[in-house]
Amino acid sequence: MNILEATKNLEKKGFMDMTVSPTLDLFAEIEKLKKEKNAIILAHYYQEADIQDVADYIGDSLGLAQQAAQTDADMIVFAGVHFMAETAKILNPNKKVVLPDLHAGCSLADSAPTEAFRNFKEAHPNHIVISYINCTAEIKALSDIICTSSNAKKIVESIPENQPIIFAPDKNLGAFINKQTGRNMLLWNGSCMVHEIFSLEKILKLKQAYPEAKILAHPECEEIILKEADFIGSTTEILNFAKKDEATQFIVATEAGILHQMEKDSPQKKFIPAPPNNACACNDCPYMKLNTLEKLYLCMKYEKPEILMEEELRLAARKPIIRMLEISKASGLIK
Ligand code: 13P
Ligand code: SF4
Repeated sequence: MNILEATKNLEKKGFMDMTVSPTLDLFAEIEKLKKEKNAIILAHYYQEADIQDVADYIGDSLGLAQQAAQTDADMIVFAGVHFMAETAKILNPNKKVVLPDLHAGCSLADSAPTEAFRNFKEAHPNHIVISYINCTAEIKALSDIICTSSNAKKIVESIPENQPIIFAPDKNLGAFINKQTGRNMLLWNGSCMVHEIFSLEKILKLKQAYPEAKILAHPECEEIILKEADFIGSTTEILNFAKKDEATQFIVATEAGILHQMEKDSPQKKFIPAPPNNACACNDCPYMKLNTLEKLYLCMKYEKPEILMEEELRLAARKPIIRMLEISKASGLIK
């Protein structure tokens, strides 16, 4: 496709569908483009290994939001999913934010449609709304505070105990935080397809085969999995635990992309992805994995697809994110 056709088809395809010569050294070209355009690549741990290796910063949702808030780059290349790139745009209206594939969505964000959520909120007018960052800009705009899996407990604890709270969209994270804090937040019925696919039976079988292995789980997993976990945390917290803990074998119940950094950090340790409840590679997030090194190169070169947003929506969505960053700073979670 030529550039005109690729631009015309951008929305349908989700990326600039242009031929890239197989002989091109994409790693070198991406480095060149970074300098030429004063661009920064922010990548989530669930991205494929090559993308993590070209990133300037790899992190969890909280770290990525903080980096996006602090960067002085002119262009933010967000190697993650749509809600993450949107968060970067909300914090940086004057910077160009590009995403390798516009179709890199999120089943959890999709589980909270705007109108249904607005009605739910209106039905509980005395509640404040805490939303997990894995939601659309529209849901953020309907929220009082945003949280991520690394700061959710602190954010909830910052609210007076007698204040009723709606927690959205992840019911598993919400239930986990309810348990941790003794609150009784009203939970929106959303979930992540990747974290709900793990098979308890297969994890327990693996545990029999590797009795010394510790089970690490993300709080987006269901309670039956969390009950078996030796450690529960965000992607960064899981990584730090695996690096510091004396165990040498770990069963990892989160998206399999995280294994790349785990193996880099601790090459002498064994990391086993927790098996899903069928034969597919369902612990690979299909949205995260839409981004490829080739699409990353194309989006940097053509500066498309770009994240754009109405100013009114941006300002409304910004408020609860800033509140989250302020609470996280005050409680020492970020600098
Ligand atoms: P964290 O990296 O914040 O733990 O988030 C996990 C996730 O599911 C992102 O999509
Ligand atoms: Fe969304 Fe789940 Fe994929 Fe994270 S792993 S982007 S929560 S679908």
